[in-house]
Order: sequence, then structure tokens, then C-alpha cells
Amino acid sequence: MANYDKKEPGFTQLPEMHSAGLRGPKHLNEHADFITSQPQDAPPKEKSHNKKEESSSPLVYDPQYILQVRDLKKYFPIKDGLLARTVGYVKAVDGVTFNLKRGTTMGLVGESGCGKTTTGRAILRLSGDKTGGDVLFNGKEVYDLTKQELHDARTKMQIIFQDPFSSLSPRMPVGEIIGEAVKEHNLVPRAEYEDYLDNIMDKCGLQPFHKDRYPHEFSGGQRQRICIARALALNPEFVVCDEPVSALDVSIQAQIINLLEDLQDQFGLTYLFISHDLSVVEHISDTVGVMYLGNLVEYGATEDIFRNPLHPYTKALFSAIPVPDPTVKMKRIVLEGSIPSPANPPEGCKVHTRCANCMEQCKHVAPVQKEIEPGHFVVCHLYNDVKAVGE
Ligand SMILES: Nc1ncnc2c1ncn2[C@@H]1O[C@H](COP(=O)(O)OP(=O)(O)OP(=O)(O)O)[C@@H](O)[C@H]1O
Ligand code: SF4
Ligand SMILES: [Mg+2]
Repeated sequence: MANYDKKEPGFTQLPEMHSAGLRGPKHLNEHADFITSQPQDAPPKEKSHNKKEESSSPLVYDPQYILQVRDLKKYFPIKDGLLARTVGYVKAVDGVTFNLKRGTTMGLVGESGCGKTTTGRAILRLSGDKTGGDVLFNGKEVYDLTKQELHDARTKMQIIFQDPFSSLSPRMPVGEIIGEAVKEHNLVPRAEYEDYLDNIMDKCGLQPFHKDRYPHEFSGGQRQRICIARALALNPEFVVCDEPVSALDVSIQAQIINLLEDLQDQFGLTYLFISHDLSVVEHISDTVGVMYLGNLVEYGATEDIFRNPLHPYTKALFSAIPVPDPTVKMKRIVLEGSIPSPANPPEGCKVHTRCANCMEQCKHVAPVQKEIEPGHFVVCHLYNDVKAVGE
């Protein structure tokens, strides 16, 4: 069984970790009986069923949150014909709302294509204009920043990608890769630059002599350390970690997770941690958001989400976590069919085409977000009659 506990002796050597063999939380058995491109044409205004979405009041800054996201939408145009006319939109992110506390980690999970990466990139304003919604970073709307302000803010908001090889220039020595943006942003005096670089590399488990080597001379885990060092060198406050360990050997994954946690402790970093690996997400995250077809269907504290998943989709997703105890019988909840296209999402609740609990209203009316217990939000008609927090 994987053990991410840094206190565990031998962990920093090669832990006997296998992601697929990670033991899911025992409590999951209790729930096992359920089933850049930028839009060039303005996307259509959609009728919203969500009162919150209809609200046009400005988003008020709450200093406990480094990031406040409200009803974020990012559509990609679908072009057709010789004139490349826009014939539709891929609604990759279709109304995502959450707040992220400073110094914490939010895990973002969901099936492939549900919009996790697009959400991360849209928050960082890396995919052109947003289609709608608000993104406040330290109280400032990211999409209202001027070019210069955005350039400055880039040091505070970083991203680490899944594939450490393709995100590193093969022709640059590692020292230059890590230090390039440090120089560009004039973050340290010239005389202190080399020491600064050595220090960052040391924190990320790299040796000073690695500076003169090229990415292809490193293993996958070391290359991800280089990516982390490059992000950290800019002294960021917030890092989007997009599947940062998925491409790595299972024995290396835990080392990188530990490194991210160490750096978070040392520098007070805030992470948005995107991953398919629910066990890793459970370990590293303080809060978890579950995405389906461009929306967060459930969101809350990690413990609440894992111990008491409420949304039928979350229950199905979590029922797939393997439990390596042959005496424990897991009942897998199988979602019918495949995930619909985000270019043509189903009417009403987007999950209704695959949900075993689907009711008539689910086919026509989109459910609204409800806070069932403090900080635990769910978007599902099953909870229409449940008294929400504050009601
Ligand atoms: N630049 C783009 N242009 C058009 N469509 C895009 C673009 N980027 C993403 N999409 C589409 O948006 C949807 C969401 O993609 P996204 O990469 O955000 O999903 P994901 O949840 O990160 O998936 P994965 O787990 O496979 O990484 C997909 O249907 C994808 O094809
Ligand atoms: S709203 Fe209806 S279809 Fe959607 S998840 Fe809930 S029960 Fe299933
Ligand atoms: Mg992705």
C-alpha cells in the first residue's frame, strides 16, 4: 500500500507504492450500493436555471480566499466550412463556482474531457478570453488586469503540467530553464542570482551541477522536479498542478507528492491539484471538487466528500477506487453509456443520461447548487427537499 506519510521511515527511499493498488478509504464500501483558441464570435447567451448565475452583483473579495471563482465559463468555437464559420461551441467549462483558501489544496477530479485542464487554464488566463463569470485572484479580477499587470501576476500564479518532458525546452540547459523567468522578471539582484538558483534547486532535490545538463539527461521524476523548481523560482502564491504525477513511475509519484507538500509548508503555497488518482487527491487535498461535463457537481472538504459523497456521479466515481482487501466486497456503481459531448450537452441535469436515480424533472430542469452541510455543496434534484445551510 502506498504511504505518503513523510514520517514513515523509508518513505523517501522508494516506497512500495502502486497507485492502482492504493487502498481506498474503508468508508467507501458504505456507499457502494448505488448505482488556444479564443472565441472569435460571442457565444450565445444561455438561459440559466441557477439564481446565483443570474446574479450580476459584483463578486465581493473575501481575504481568506486567494481565489474566488464564480460561474466561470470557457467555450471553444467549432468552426466549419471554407469561411470557418462558427457552427457551435464546445462548452468545456460551463459555470464553475468555488472558493479556495490561502495555503490549502483543492483537488479537482472527474472523467477525461470533463474540463479540468480548461478550468485551470482559464483561471490563469492562459486560454484567451473567458466566456463568462468571475475569477478573483487576491481580490482582483484576473481578466481585468492590464497586460503589464498580468505579466507581473504571472509570477504569483504558476502551472505544472502532466508531461515534464514536453514542457521543457530540449535545447536549454536546466539552469537556464529554471532561471529564465527569474531574470525576465528581475526577481533577484544579478550578484545573488546563482545562489538563488542553487537554493531553489536544492529545495527541489536537484544538485547545482545539474544546471549545465539538458532535460533529456534526466529521469521523468527529475524532470518534474525541474518543472517544479522553474515554477517555484518565481516565488508563486498559487500553483495549478495539472496531473503532475500521472506520467511518472508509481515509485516516483510519492516523492513528487511529498516535495509538493514540503514546498507548500515552507512557502505557504496554494494548489489546485488536478488528478485522476482519487487516492492521491484524498491524500493531498483539503477540499475536493468533482467535475462533470464542464460543471462542479459536488464540492466540499475532502473528508466530507470521501466519507459522505452525495451526488450520484461522485458515488459512482468513488466506487471505482480499489480496495486491496479480498475480504471486503466492493459494489461498483457503473455509469451507463459514455460521457456526452460538451458541444451538445444534455438538457436539464447533464448527468441524467447516465444516472440511475434520474427522475422526470432531471431531464428538463438543471439542478441548482445547494449547501447541504457547511461547506459541502451538491448540484442534484435528489436534495431539493433537503434544508440547505442558512435556509
Ligand atoms: N483549445 C481547445 N479547443 C477546442 N476544444 C478544446 C480545447 N481545449 C479543450 N477542449 C475540449 O474541452 C473539453 C474539456 O477538455 P479538458 O482538456 O479541459 O478536459 P480534462 O478534464 O482536462 O481531460 P483529461 O482528464 O483528459 O486531461 C474536451 O472536450 C476538449 O476536447
Ligand atoms: S439531478 Fe437527477 S439526473 Fe442529475 S444527478 Fe441528480 S438524480 Fe441524477
Ligand atoms: Mg486535462
